[in-house]
Amino acid sequence: MSALFQPFKLKDITLRNRIAVPPMCQYMAGDDGMVNHWHLVHFASMARGGAGLVVVEATAVSPEGRITPACTGIWNDEQARAFVPIVQAIKEAGSVPGIQIAHAGRKASANLPWEGDDHFAEHDERSWEIIGPSAIAHGAHLPRTPRAMTVEDIARVQQNFVDAAKRALDAGFEWLELHFAHGFLGQSFFSEHSNQRTDEYGGSFENRSRYLLETLAAVRKVWPEHLPLTARFGVIEYDGRDEQTLSESIELARQFKAGGLDFLSVSVGFTIPNTDVPWGPAFMGPVAERVKRESGLPVTTAWGFGSAQLAEAAVKAGQMDLVSIGRGHLADPHWAFTAAKELGVDQPARTLPTAYSHWLERYR
Ligand code: FNR
Repeated sequence: MSALFQPFKLKDITLRNRIAVPPMCQYMAGDDGMVNHWHLVHFASMARGGAGLVVVEATAVSPEGRITPACTGIWNDEQARAFVPIVQAIKEAGSVPGIQIAHAGRKASANLPWEGDDHFAEHDERSWEIIGPSAIAHGAHLPRTPRAMTVEDIARVQQNFVDAAKRALDAGFEWLELHFAHGFLGQSFFSEHSNQRTDEYGGSFENRSRYLLETLAAVRKVWPEHLPLTARFGVIEYDGRDEQTLSESIELARQFKAGGLDFLSVSVGFTIPNTDVPWGPAFMGPVAERVKRESGLPVTTAWGFGSAQLAEAAVKAGQMDLVSIGRGHLADPHWAFTAAKELGVDQPARTLPTAYSHWLERYR
């Protein structure tokens, strides 16, 4: 029996299988951060393809929190309403609709990936002010120095997260992911590479964790207890200080759990450009397993699980509860159906909606 095709229950939500579509920015929104027909087709396709969970891309909680001008936003009600057909399409296809809410911090104000992926120059009319825990630039293709946030800025961004969570709930999302990973604002508070503050938000482990734990606590108050509240967090940087970062991250994950987090998407920090990430199939599997075991949180991870056998093995071995398949879904929105066939699941076409499965079962 396939482990990948077993249901997964968290709070009042049951996923039909262990396959998650992780957030993947499309850079296809308008300047106003509004989703459009691109997003509807994109997310509905992958839900129809059979994934248990579809998490909508990093969606900015404020205009300044976008990575690029084409990122999606949820800082006003009109944007939230535009998500409703997407949410409905994901649900109608039998998947659970999730959304990642985000602030890009010092990585904001950038060109599209296929137009350079770099910061707009400060004098460029498309650019906007970038903020971060300290006035320290990321470097490489993101050379601009952010303005160090005041405590008022911190409170404002936390309120933006709370408001975004309420709007996501109103739009019908059932799974909320706080983006605390990939060198964006949350991650950059945790890392000493980007946080050199001398106030209560910097320095010690406790102080570097404060922004994240406070944001979680504020969102937890408005996100219902019966729905999963999750986060994506980079637990390791591959910068030569890995054991220290990992053990601090696991301690933070325990505190996330105590603070009401239900699930962690384990990822890489990507706080600085010069690292030694051991890219390769399924390389994050053992890291996710350790975080799961030592924190007590159910987890997922991504990065190179696109083969059905690797995904199946990861769940079977208990490394993770869900497997996140990103680029595999860009290549094949019916990835779950393809995996079901490869793994010899009984009646694999049942992974798909009846309008497809009826024909695929009948005429093999
Ligand atoms: C990503 N990734 C990503 N991660 C995230 O937390 N929020 C996001 O919005 C995005 N955006 C994004 C866009 C695109 C086009 C890609 C390919 C990736 C990372 C993504 O969630 C995932 O971790 C990686 O794709 C690695 O998993 P795969 O592709 O090896 O299965």
